[in-house]
Amino acid sequence: MAGGSITYFQPLAVLILSLTIPISTRVVMASPPAVKAAYWPSWTTFPPSAIDTTLFTHIYYAFLMPTDTYKFEISTSTALELSNFTTTLRRKNPPVKTLYSIGGGGTDSHLFARMVSNEKSRQTFINSAIETARGLGFDGMDLDWEFPENPTDMKNLGVLFMDWRRAINYEARKTHRAPLLLTAAVYFSVDFFLDEVYRKFPVWSINQNLDWINAMCYDYHGSWDTSATGAHAALYDPNSNISTSYGLRSWIKAGLFRRKLVMGLPLYGKTWVLKDPKSNEIGSAAVSVGPGDVGVLTNVEIEEFNKKNGAKIEHDMETVSTYSYAGSVWIGYDDSVSATLKVGFAQALGIRGYFFWAIGYDSEWKISRYASRAWVVGE
Ligand SMILES: *[C@@H]1O[C@H](CO)[C@@H](O)[C@H](O)[C@H]1NC(C)=O
Ligand SMILES: *[C@@H]1O[C@H](CO)[C@@H](O)[C@H](O)[C@H]1NC(C)=O
Repeated sequence: MAGGSITYFQPLAVLILSLTIPISTRVVMASPPAVKAAYWPSWTTFPPSAIDTTLFTHIYYAFLMPTDTYKFEISTSTALELSNFTTTLRRKNPPVKTLYSIGGGGTDSHLFARMVSNEKSRQTFINSAIETARGLGFDGMDLDWEFPENPTDMKNLGVLFMDWRRAINYEARKTHRAPLLLTAAVYFSVDFFLDEVYRKFPVWSINQNLDWINAMCYDYHGSWDTSATGAHAALYDPNSNISTSYGLRSWIKAGLFRRKLVMGLPLYGKTWVLKDPKSNEIGSAAVSVGPGDVGVLTNVEIEEFNKKNGAKIEHDMETVSTYSYAGSVWIGYDDSVSATLKVGFAQALGIRGYFFWAIGYDSEWKISRYASRAWVVGE
């Protein structure tokens, strides 16, 4: 907050403040360190030892899933992989904290709905999750339930977070260890305003019980609509509320503490085949998805495509996004220019930080590096 011009007086001001403000208030005032996180998809072959830990504070292992008895049953080979992951990242210079993420896109949403609906199954799940985290050397857990389907699910999710936090604190006291971190990957917006069944995340419980949430600010457009191209992680959308600025603000408007909010950044793009190669802007007519599995390419693949095909690259300042096109192929994504602008937006909004989906998709850490430099640390 302090402007550069008053730096000379700062030490005195700090001294006076420290003498007059009771300790409890000072603790509340201290702003928690920024979050610069990324998910590591276990099915990619990117070795954890090759992660540049100077660029991140937290790395998420993606994903683990409980069985239908709500317990984690981890095979010996997976357990070895998981301990290797946490050990490797803890020993790196600098070390990073590790969390494991539970669920993920395309997993059984109803399993979570059943689990949260009943106290006994919540306890079974929570105890197993904590045991798994400690047993394998993780610093925390993340719930990526995509998605709670109705208001009852949302209400029960709030209760789950409450029970989970209570169990975490109890375990920490009992073992004299730092409490495990608890986060959740959530929809870009606080409510599902586009869906038939309206529902809203339990902001009160998130504020009380989670360290932060990772808002998935991407996938606004994709293979489900092949009629037109789209900026799938646009910061602004002049025609709709499907944008990162709208989503992040909706969380804050609903009362989420800004320090609990972390913005998602994609390290992948969405591809389309244009109807007319000469009409190649955001929203231009398309006929199908383009290259990549269901029209998705990682940033590494996009760079390769652009180079190989001499693609034209455009930075669209209205949406704050990047797109490229060559022949009839059109790709919407973020490069270091648009990602850096979004990081600046997030910091100006006063939120906690950002995260990437996913490690290994960034070409030579280019965007990770720009983002990390852009997030100004200090007052
Ligand atoms: C993790 O696995 C890699 C590759 O399999 C190996 O080179 C490395 O030594 C292992 N690290 C630890 C800490 O076990
Ligand atoms: C966006 O949301 C606001 C309320 O949050 C609403 O007033 C406005 O009509 C919405 N705009 C569009 C284009 O749907």
